[in-house]
Amino acid sequence: MGVEVDFRRWLANFEAEALRRAGEQDPAWEMGARLDPVLIETLRRFQFSEDTDNRLLIAKTVAAGDPEYAAAIVLFAAEEANHGRLLDHLLAAAGSGRITGHWADATFRRLRPAFGLRLEMMLILASEIVVLPFYAAIADGVDDPLTAEVAARILADEQRHVPFHCDWLRGCLAASPPAFRAAAVVGWWFLAAGATAMVVSDHGRTLTHLRTTRGRYARDVFAHSRAAMAQVRAADPGTAALAGHPRRRLPTRPPVDRRPPGV
Ligand SMILES: [Fe+2]
Ligand SMILES: [Fe+2]
Repeated sequence: MGVEVDFRRWLANFEAEALRRAGEQDPAWEMGARLDPVLIETLRRFQFSEDTDNRLLIAKTVAAGDPEYAAAIVLFAAEEANHGRLLDHLLAAAGSGRITGHWADATFRRLRPAFGLRLEMMLILASEIVVLPFYAAIADGVDDPLTAEVAARILADEQRHVPFHCDWLRGCLAASPPAFRAAAVVGWWFLAAGATAMVVSDHGRTLTHLRTTRGRYARDVFAHSRAAMAQVRAADPGTAALAGHPRRRLPTRPPVDRRPPGV
């Protein structure tokens, strides 16, 4: 028997966030950003990943038949598009362009139409969890205030996205036999381990630049993954499991001074 997850609370959460964002000023792009080339390469890669076309995902959730969940996914996709936009502006402020392709994303985008919603959400959850501690590392470790602000804004969203996806997967897998559920969780751990290894391999030098280590990053991913799988396997419906996820303190840097010089 399945677990009914009520997505009205998540929809209200995403609607409130959309309202808050509509009244929020953009970061002060005119301040410019001074970034090490190794961090720019990472941000270019992240920008390309964030800028994914989620129309197919939305169509799959509409077909799944839960209107509240589908409406929440539309707002989730808008947040991801906003991450791509923020990173695009940040790269421009740093004097860099964006990349227009990467083999890993190209493969995912090519295979995506063949994925069922369950597999797609498992992949999305793994990709969200591996970037979450990375944005925290950027927000905490970068010397550039504009970049720290952008990373903190994205991190705040990703900290909500992970339990949101876990709630859907929990409801979805609860309808499956226990053996299938256990196999899906084991499969997910392999996905997450592969994604972590790829991030460490591709962006390990950026972690060093941010004054952290590959090991610490991997431990953070593990902590997030363990909390996520605990939520996916939890018996209790609702979003109460939010409290079980590691919550990185958001940076307390002062906001960027928007006044023109000399005022
Ligand atoms: Fe994102
Ligand atoms: Fe996300």
